[in-house]
Amino acid sequence: MKIRLDKYLADAGFGTRNEVKALVKSGAITINGEKIKDSSQKVDTDTDEVNVNGEDVDYSEYEYYMLYKPAGIITASRDKKEETVLNLIKSKKRRDLFPVGRLDRDTEGLLLITNDGELSHKLLSPGKHVEKGYVAVVTGYSPDDIEALFENGLDIGDEKPTKPAKLRRFSDLEEFMTEYDDSYFAEKFSKLKEDESLTIYEIKITEGRYHEIKRMFEAVGCSVVYLKRYSMGSLTLDPELKPGEYRKLKIDEYKKLKTTCTAPFLVI
Ligand code: URA
Repeated sequence: MKIRLDKYLADAGFGTRNEVKALVKSGAITINGEKIKDSSQKVDTDTDEVNVNGEDVDYSEYEYYMLYKPAGIITASRDKKEETVLNLIKSKKRRDLFPVGRLDRDTEGLLLITNDGELSHKLLSPGKHVEKGYVAVVTGYSPDDIEALFENGLDIGDEKPTKPAKLRRFSDLEEFMTEYDDSYFAEKFSKLKEDESLTIYEIKITEGRYHEIKRMFEAVGCSVVYLKRYSMGSLTLDPELKPGEYRKLKIDEYKKLKTTCTAPFLVI
């Protein structure tokens, strides 16, 4: 792909478009060994070797990160006052990264961070029905037919009822642990466990409405006290990650996502 030098440098994190123009004018840039002072010069992102003050530019057209979003951080690209999930991605090169979908401030778990708008659109598009899997700790008396109520769709005060959601109740932490083996969750749960009426549910939804899971449980008279996302389509949260940690997506993880959602090929 051929793009302007100023866009190339700005995308690679060397400053705003104006800052990189000044950098180019200062004579700091070479392309294939030749000094370039014109920021409108085209760069072939696949074959050209660009240097800034003698250092190779490590350019990626797309970046893909799996983040374990911790509670207390907002899902936004930037914010004037608060730390965002993007601030946690310290090794990012691109300036145009964004979170795919939104988790509430108090929700934890899997968040994909990328600048691939096409992939993001396809993961979030209601027509694609991409499943997102969560575990919710819920307080209050659950109706006996709660699974059927979630499956049939609930009136949560929006124009339309929710799309069918798959709900599964765990009898206790032990049963949850045989499947999820999440010691971090177990620790959290034991701190919540003062209230004996807590129930652990696995819930799979295909929409992404505002506070959707919390509002679904409220619609049946319950309240979510803890929520964690484990999966989004074929992508699952790496159990090695701790809250606040992240890593690049692996090629096979990306390829699997791509089979449900056609997207540009990954360059990691
Ligand atoms: N549903 C919610 O209520 N909150 C989230 O963060 C995600 C889904």
